[in-house]
Amino acid sequence: MSDIVTVKAPVNIAVIKYWGKRDEDLILPLNDSVSATLDTSIMCAKTSVCARPEFKENEIWLNGKKESFHSPRLQNCLKEIKSRAAAENSVNEDFLQWKVRVCSENNFPTAAGLASSAAGYACLVTALAKLYKVKSDVSSIARLGSGSACRSVYGGFVRWHAGTNPDGSDSIASQIKGSAHWPEMQALILVVGDTKKKTSSTTGMRISTQTSELLKHRIKYCVPQRTDEIIQAIKEKDFPKFAEITMKDSNQFHAVCLDSYPPFVYMTDVSHLIVDLIHKYNELSGSTKVAYTFDAGPNACLYLLEKDVPQVLSLIRHVFPSSNPHQFVTGLKTNEVALNSELK
Ligand code: ADP
Ligand code: DP6
Ligand code: CO
Repeated sequence: MSDIVTVKAPVNIAVIKYWGKRDEDLILPLNDSVSATLDTSIMCAKTSVCARPEFKENEIWLNGKKESFHSPRLQNCLKEIKSRAAAENSVNEDFLQWKVRVCSENNFPTAAGLASSAAGYACLVTALAKLYKVKSDVSSIARLGSGSACRSVYGGFVRWHAGTNPDGSDSIASQIKGSAHWPEMQALILVVGDTKKKTSSTTGMRISTQTSELLKHRIKYCVPQRTDEIIQAIKEKDFPKFAEITMKDSNQFHAVCLDSYPPFVYMTDVSHLIVDLIHKYNELSGSTKVAYTFDAGPNACLYLLEKDVPQVLSLIRHVFPSSNPHQFVTGLKTNEVALNSELK
């Protein structure tokens, strides 16, 4: 019988968006992406795993509901962790044969564009790595669950290199800078809608890859330069530059969704009101103080410096007076909660 292993994992919100795959099974992206990992104090996935000889099947519960373990993504993650465990000789043969039970909960909306797949799979593989005493880096295994999950394994600012090898061996995430580098950087999540998206990220990016001309243009002419520039801005702590690139990349990603055929939309009227509000605020401030970015969902992630948080929060509360204050989860500080360091 094994102990129950429980771990938490953070979400990460991309500033250069991953959108499009060159290999659907290995989850290899068409482009590099860059993100910041958010503190686990407000939003996180929490996953428990255990293995026992008497379990007949592998089983998973997500947010209290039993889900199928037959998903190739789940199967691949478990298989890879076990093969690492075998290679590292970290547990005995019998233990590797036992079936597992997984129980996971997100304390924020699932499948609503708040990176639940990133936190969820980073959490699952980290928990399994602990269970099977795997010591090596698990970011590439998290990628097999959901592409964005490979970035949630590190804290601070993270780049996922698309790589070029067909086997994915160079498609890896690495930390650009830890959060201690830019501790003033904060993120505000504005929950606009918490329902499950109509088009999953996986389906959406498949349609875009097959049909969008704009996606081809973006990958060839926009992302490489933006990636270099935003990494430079992060290193130099140049907020206005960081913010401008972040907003442009979010807008281009959503334009790609509309350029796909059939088109799909993730942002709502409220999302667009937030976009207008941030541009007006920046204009009146005389400098770029806030950046918005939207994942595949209607919810906004605002990046801003700590000194500007009180004013921006009161502005949001003024413009959306009827909003439930809980909708605005605040104080997320990008931090060093790197799962890989917990593993050591
Ligand atoms: P999101 O924008 O929330 O990342 P996606 O469409 O990318 O939405 O992925 C949602 C899917 O990710 C869920 O339907 C589920 O399969 C998976 N997922 C989410 N949370 C978890 C979790 N905690 N553990 C395992 N899988 C999860
Ligand atoms: C818009 O990682 O959720 O959030 O790899 O198919 O699971 P799969 O997709 P996922 O896509 C994330 C898309 C995004 C941008 C990003 O996080 O980079
Ligand atoms: Co996702």
